[in-house]
Amino acid sequence: MADDGDRHRQSRLFTDEDGDFDADRAREESLPVEDGEVIDTDELADHQRYIEGRGVYDERNRVNDLTGKEWKFATKSVIDESYPPAVQHDLRSEHGGQKPPRLCADLIDRFSKAGDTVLDPFAGVGGTLLGASFCEHEGTGLREAIGFERTERWIEIYREVLEQENDERRARGEPPLAEQELRHGDCADLIEDVPDDSVDLLLTDVPYWDMDELEQTRNERETRESKLGSFDGAATTATAGGDIDDRGGGTGDAVTDIDDTADGDDDFETTDGSDDHQTKAEWLADMAGKFDRFTEAVAPDGHVVVFIGDMYREQSYEFLSADLARAIESTAPLTLAATLIWYDPTKDLHVYGYPFSFVPSMVHQNVLVFRLEDGA
Ligand SMILES: C[S@@+](CC[C@H](N)C(=O)[O-])C[C@H]1O[C@@H](n2cnc3c(N)ncnc32)[C@H](O)[C@@H]1O
Repeated sequence: MADDGDRHRQSRLFTDEDGDFDADRAREESLPVEDGEVIDTDELADHQRYIEGRGVYDERNRVNDLTGKEWKFATKSVIDESYPPAVQHDLRSEHGGQKPPRLCADLIDRFSKAGDTVLDPFAGVGGTLLGASFCEHEGTGLREAIGFERTERWIEIYREVLEQENDERRARGEPPLAEQELRHGDCADLIEDVPDDSVDLLLTDVPYWDMDELEQTRNERETRESKLGSFDGAATTATAGGDIDDRGGGTGDAVTDIDDTADGDDDFETTDGSDDHQTKAEWLADMAGKFDRFTEAVAPDGHVVVFIGDMYREQSYEFLSADLARAIESTAPLTLAATLIWYDPTKDLHVYGYPFSFVPSMVHQNVLVFRLEDGA
């Protein structure tokens, strides 16, 4: 890298009428300009290379393909992008817990390199898989992604989304998104076919007990009742950040996942009409055991990245992200490296608790980032 003296000497060659550095003129002369300064590529170290428009890349980067400038931005602990509805959003919304593919692409860019393998053992309608494909065109390069999903309908939707999205992309003259592999079955069985150390990034969004199968109509009714505009005083007292989806502030509502209304019925009702009585402790133990097994598939330099929302339930805050992080750390050879917050500024607000008690309106999700313990 040039020292300050060099850079200032070069900058003085391209000044505007006021004597200030003229970055446009410097670019016209094909000089690399970053942050208003000319980069002297002759001064770069052997392990550094300048990438036009992106900054200086360090070949020793073991985590991702980002330049120093991009890395600085990518390590921000809050992601405050809204990711407006896109990528056949209506079709994917049938799921209810789907994640924005472009958010997944941004995370994949942060925690893997082009050509790496990404695994999502709870793939749903394929937010991670679509994100891995977006990386080819809107990121640092295509990743190969493998997903597991036990509900056939979600697999069908992933395929329909891809087909419709690619029809539209071709009509716009854009290259199609690569099809990724979505395997049908229980992740506990399917993981057996994934060779040890073959996955570079495990990116997933865990199921909450069986809440991804909660009866949608009841959710919709309760959500309507809790909306600011139609508020009539009958407060719903439970909110869940757990399944913030990617509706991005359109007409979509934040789903109130748990039936924790005044009638006190907090059993989980599944689509087949049965009640699910898995306790939180059982759920944590189940998840921790699964992540322990998944980790065998992850390469030593790899990362395990998990979406998890906290939840307000029975008048107390369920710090699920912390609970899950501790459960996973105590069982799997993983160390928590960071928690990122995805804050969706466009999320609809609801009235919970008014006027008697403070109940948070969840407009964020946590993203737990684990690295493998040494020797794992
Ligand atoms: C929170 S959703 C994931 C949504 C996903 N991120 C998306 O963008 O569509 C969790 C998914 O895990 C699936 N699932 C739950 N338990 C599973 C298991 N044991 N094996 C495979 N899939 C499972 C559920 O059917 C659900 O679709």
